[in-house]
Amino acid sequence: MIKLTTIIHIAMISTIPLVVSAETKEGKTVYQQCIACHGVNGEGNPVMQSPALAGQHKAYLLRQLMQYKSGARGAHPDDQQGKIMTGIAGTLDSDAMEAVSAYLSELPSASPREEQQTTTAEPGKAVYQNKCATCHGREAQGNKTLGAPRLSELDENYFIRQMEHFQKGIRGSADNDSHGEQMGMMSRGISSIQVKEIAEYISQIQ
Ligand code: HEC
Ligand code: HEC
Repeated sequence: MIKLTTIIHIAMISTIPLVVSAETKEGKTVYQQCIACHGVNGEGNPVMQSPALAGQHKAYLLRQLMQYKSGARGAHPDDQQGKIMTGIAGTLDSDAMEAVSAYLSELPSASPREEQQTTTAEPGKAVYQNKCATCHGREAQGNKTLGAPRLSELDENYFIRQMEHFQKGIRGSADNDSHGEQMGMMSRGISSIQVKEIAEYISQIQ
């Protein structure tokens, strides 16, 4: 009896993780070429202007990689940082994109920013909760159904750059980018001071 349960136990331990980790394992291998910029644990590297990716929604990551590859994101002449990614995404096939997106989405997300407790978060909170939370969630965790990404672990410079790019149509204006177009419209009513205030607020949510 004991022997049988032991066998069942071993069988369970050895099969379940194998099934789960097949794609993840491949994704980890693909991710080795991303570490230099996005960090060992997908925590991002502001010095390399590279955002955190860990814990981001899989479908969002996959869409961004496909957009970079097709040129719907990153091909605009004023998008210097995006250009870096169009080159890299161009080398990935759809299986590699799928696997690396799955791997990253399963990594625990961690805020790369220092916790700062200041009162300046209040104005940002008001704007964020009124104009952004419907799609990006009250805690900036994102909304998979709406295709709105998690914002809570993005560093300030990356966040501000994306808002400016959406506002100027550097990102989100390609014909086949309906999600980007939606965000482009949302970004245009927000002043640059408000963008900064929202960035500060989001950095304090976690
Ligand atoms: C040479 C540095 C570099 C390498 C290597 C690199 N990236 Fe990036 N990545 C960037 C930069 C810079 C950005 C920000 C682009 C922008 O501002 O639009 C970025 C953005 C991204 C984004 C968009 C994130 C978001 O929140 O929208 C994804 C997804 C991504 N990279 C995935 C990858 C993957 C997967 C790899 C490896 C296969 C990789 N990157 C390798 C520099 C790099
Ligand atoms: C109607 C829904 C909606 C609202 C409201 C909205 N967003 Fe978005 N946002 C999106 C979607 C969808 C995307 C993904 C775009 C893409 O796939 O490129 C996005 C993307 C973003 C990104 C890019 C994140 C990254 O990792 O590159 C930022 C930053 C952002 N939104 C900030 C905001 C802020 C700040 C507000 C409020 C002022 C806001 N959004 C309001 C739907 C929305």
